[in-house]
Amino acid sequence: MTLSEIEKARADSLAEIAVADAAAAEALRVKYIGRNGIITALIKAMKDVPKEERPAFGRAVQEWKSAAAAAIAGKSSVAAQGDRGVEADLTLPGRWFGLGVKHPLTRVMEETAEIFGRLGFSVADGPEIENRFNNFTALNTPPHHPSQDRADTFWFGDDLLLRTQTSPVQIRTMMANKPPIRVICPGRTFRRDTTDATHSANFHQIEGLYVDTLPDKPVSLADLKSVLAYFAKSMMGAGATVRFRPHFFPFTEPSVEVDFSCHLCKGAGCAVCKQSGWIEVAGAGMVDPRVFKHVGYDPEKVSGYAFGFGVERIAMIKYGIPDIRWLYENDVRFLSQLG
Ligand code: DAH
Repeated sequence: MTLSEIEKARADSLAEIAVADAAAAEALRVKYIGRNGIITALIKAMKDVPKEERPAFGRAVQEWKSAAAAAIAGKSSVAAQGDRGVEADLTLPGRWFGLGVKHPLTRVMEETAEIFGRLGFSVADGPEIENRFNNFTALNTPPHHPSQDRADTFWFGDDLLLRTQTSPVQIRTMMANKPPIRVICPGRTFRRDTTDATHSANFHQIEGLYVDTLPDKPVSLADLKSVLAYFAKSMMGAGATVRFRPHFFPFTEPSVEVDFSCHLCKGAGCAVCKQSGWIEVAGAGMVDPRVFKHVGYDPEKVSGYAFGFGVERIAMIKYGIPDIRWLYENDVRFLSQLG
C-alpha cells in the first residue's frame, strides 16, 4: 500500500466505524485491528517496505490504527451509556412497587372499632403482661380453675402472666372509671396451645363491655343481643343474624356462646359451618355481680353486659381463610389478595 492508499483506506474505515452499532463495531475491530486484521497485516508487512519509506509508512499505519481503535472504543462506551440511558429514560413507564395492604387481623379490629364506635363505644387498652387479680381473680375465676393451670397459661412467677384473654381490660376500665362504660378492647392474648390449623399460642380477641346505672338505665340480655346482631350485619353482611346458646363463664351470669349465621351458605349448611348453618364467634353474658364487687361497684346499683370475640375466627370466616397459620406467616402472596 502506498501512503495515499493508506490515507484513503483510513478514511473509509473511519466512515464505516462511524455508522456502526456496538455489535458491528466489534466486527470492525476484528476486521481492522484483530490478529488477522488489515492494519495488523500492514504492521507485519513493515519489514518489506523500503528502508527510506519505512518511517513515514510506519507513522501512517500507527496513526490509522490508533484512530480506528479510538473510534471503535467510542462505540462500545456509547453502547454502555445507551444501556444506562434506557433506565434514565423518563418517558418509559415507571416500575410499580405495589401498595401495602392492611393485615386481615388489623382490618377486623379496625372495622370492629368503627362499628362499635357508631354505637358509642370507645377503644380501651391494657398490657399483655397481666397480674393474677385482673386476669383471673377479679373475673371470678378461682385458683383451681383449669385456665389458671401452668399447662394452659404462660406464667412469670406466681403473679404475672401473659394475659389469656382481653377480659382483664374490663377490670382495668371499671377500676379507673365510673359507669356508664362502653368500651371495646382489641388485643393480643396468649395460651399454651399447640399450633395447628385452628389453634395458635398467640391470638387476638376483642372484648366488649357496657355498664350503666340502676334503676334508671337497666341493661339486659336483649340489649346485648341487639348490639351483637347489629355487629353481625355490619361485619358479615345485611343477611347475617346471631343466636345465643347457654354456656358458662365465671365472669358472666347468665352466660352465652354467640353464633353468627353462616354468611357463605346463608344457613343452609356448608363445609365452613360444618353443615350447621351457624358459626361460633364469641362468648358473652351479663356481668356477674361478683365481678362488680371486685372492682368496687355496688351490684345493686349497676348492670351490664360483656362479650369477647376471637379476631382470628372472624377473619377466617369473613375472608375464607382455612388455616390460622396463614395469618402469621406474612406471605405476601396470601396477604396481597386482600388488597
Ligand atoms: N374471655 C372469654 C374467653 O377467652 C371470652 C368471653 C366470654 C369474654 C364471655 C366475655 C364474656 O367478656 O362475657 O373465652
